[in-house]
Amino acid sequence: MHAKESVVIRPARNLLGSIRVPGDKSISHRYAMLAALAAGRSRFENYSPGADCNSTLGCVRALGCAVEREESGAVIIDGIGPLLHAPNTALDCGNSGSTMRMLSGIVAAQTFTSELIGDESLSRRPMKRVMEPLRRMGAEIVANNDCAPLSISGTALLGITYRVPVASAQVKTCLLFAGLLADGQTTVEEPVATRDHGELALRAFGAEVLRSRNSVTIAGGQALHPLDAFIPGDSSSAAFFLCAAAIFPESNLVIDGVLLNPTRSALLDVLTAMGCRVSVLSVEEQHGELVGTISLVPGKSKPLEISGAQTALLIDELPVLAATAPYGAGLVVRDAGELRVKESDRLSAVTGNLEAMGAQVEQTADGWRIPGGQKLHGAEIESFGDHRIAMAFAVAALRAEGDTLIHNSECVAISYPSFFADLEKLLER
Ligand code: S3P
Repeated sequence: MHAKESVVIRPARNLLGSIRVPGDKSISHRYAMLAALAAGRSRFENYSPGADCNSTLGCVRALGCAVEREESGAVIIDGIGPLLHAPNTALDCGNSGSTMRMLSGIVAAQTFTSELIGDESLSRRPMKRVMEPLRRMGAEIVANNDCAPLSISGTALLGITYRVPVASAQVKTCLLFAGLLADGQTTVEEPVATRDHGELALRAFGAEVLRSRNSVTIAGGQALHPLDAFIPGDSSSAAFFLCAAAIFPESNLVIDGVLLNPTRSALLDVLTAMGCRVSVLSVEEQHGELVGTISLVPGKSKPLEISGAQTALLIDELPVLAATAPYGAGLVVRDAGELRVKESDRLSAVTGNLEAMGAQVEQTADGWRIPGGQKLHGAEIESFGDHRIAMAFAVAALRAEGDTLIHNSECVAISYPSFFADLEKLLER
C-alpha cells in the first residue's frame, strides 16, 4: 500500500458522460485461483488493477504458478493442476478477505502447510466461518482467536453437506473450491442467495456444478481446463458513479462493459425504485456472466427500505447508498450486521462521516435510518483505510456545501486505483 495521502473533493454542479470501470474484483480473484488449478496457460484481459486482486496473484505465484502482467493490464497465469507447490514464504493476502477465505479452501487440500497472513484490518476479520466447515472436511487449521494468521496443514479432504450460517459468497466459494479438490461430493446450502461467481467460474473452467434454489453441489476430482476471458467491469465500482449521477437532477451517465450478473445488479433495481430511470442498452453473456451497457437519468426521489435477501445482494453498495441517502427521499437499511466486519465497521464509519457532514442519521444494530431532503456541508472524512468508505464519501462530497477532505484516500487502490481521476472526468463544475 502507498504512503498515506489525503484528497480534497470540491462540490460539482452535475455529472455527465460515459465511463468503463476496471475489471470485477470478485471474478478476478476466482479466475486467478482456478487458473492456478488448471494445467496450462490462462489469460485474462481487464483483470482488476486493484491491490486486492494483486494479492491473489502474489499468492498464486508463491504456490508455484508463473504469473505475468502484460502492459495492457492483461494477466497470464501458467496453471499447474490441482497439486500446487509448497510456498517458501507466507501467503500474503494483504487487505483482501476474499483472497484469504477462498484460498483457504484450496491450500487445505494440498500436501504441505501454508501460512496465510494479512494486514491489520484483515487480521481482525472473522475466519471461523471458513475454518469450521473446512475442519469438518478434515482440514487442520491453527488460527489466532479465529483470526489470521492462519496455519493450514494440507490433507486429503472429504466432501460434506454444509449449511452456511451467514450469507457469504466467500465462504460458499471457499467450500466449492475445497469440494473440487476433495473426495466425494460437497453441497453448500445458503440462508439467502449470494453472488454466484464461484459457481459460474468453476463452470467456465470446465467443472460440473449442480445448482438448485438455495444449494450448490460439486463432485471432487474434476480436472479444470485453462480459460481466456475478458473480465467485465466491476459493478460495485460502477455503483459509485451511479449513485453520484442519482444525486444531480440534470445528470446523464452511461457505463459500458459492466457486469450485469443478477446477483450483483440489485442496485439497479434499488435506484429504479428510488425514482431513477435505468436502461440496459445492450447485454451479452461471456463465460456465464452477463455484461452490457447501462444508462441512468435521475427522476423524482422516493423513499426506500432495504432488508433481508436484498441487503445481502447489496452488501458492497450499501456504503455509497447510505452516504448519498440524505440528498434523496430517505433510506432505511436493516439486516446489514455483516457491514461491521468488512474492511472497517462500515455501519459506524458511514454514520460518523455523515454526522461530520452535518447529516441526521440513526445507526441501529444492523443498519441505518437516514431521513431525506437534507443539506450537507464539506468536512474532514476518515476513510479508516477502507476503500469503499473513501469512495462513498467522495461521492457524497459532490453535493455538499464547501470542500471535503478525505484522509487516507490512497486506500481506493484496494479496488480502484484510478477512481478519483475517473470521477473527475465526469464532473461539471
Ligand atoms: C465477495 C463477497 C462479499 C463482498 C466482498 C467480495 C466475494 O463478502 O463483501 O467484497 O467476492 O465473494 P462476503 O462473502 O463475506 O459477504
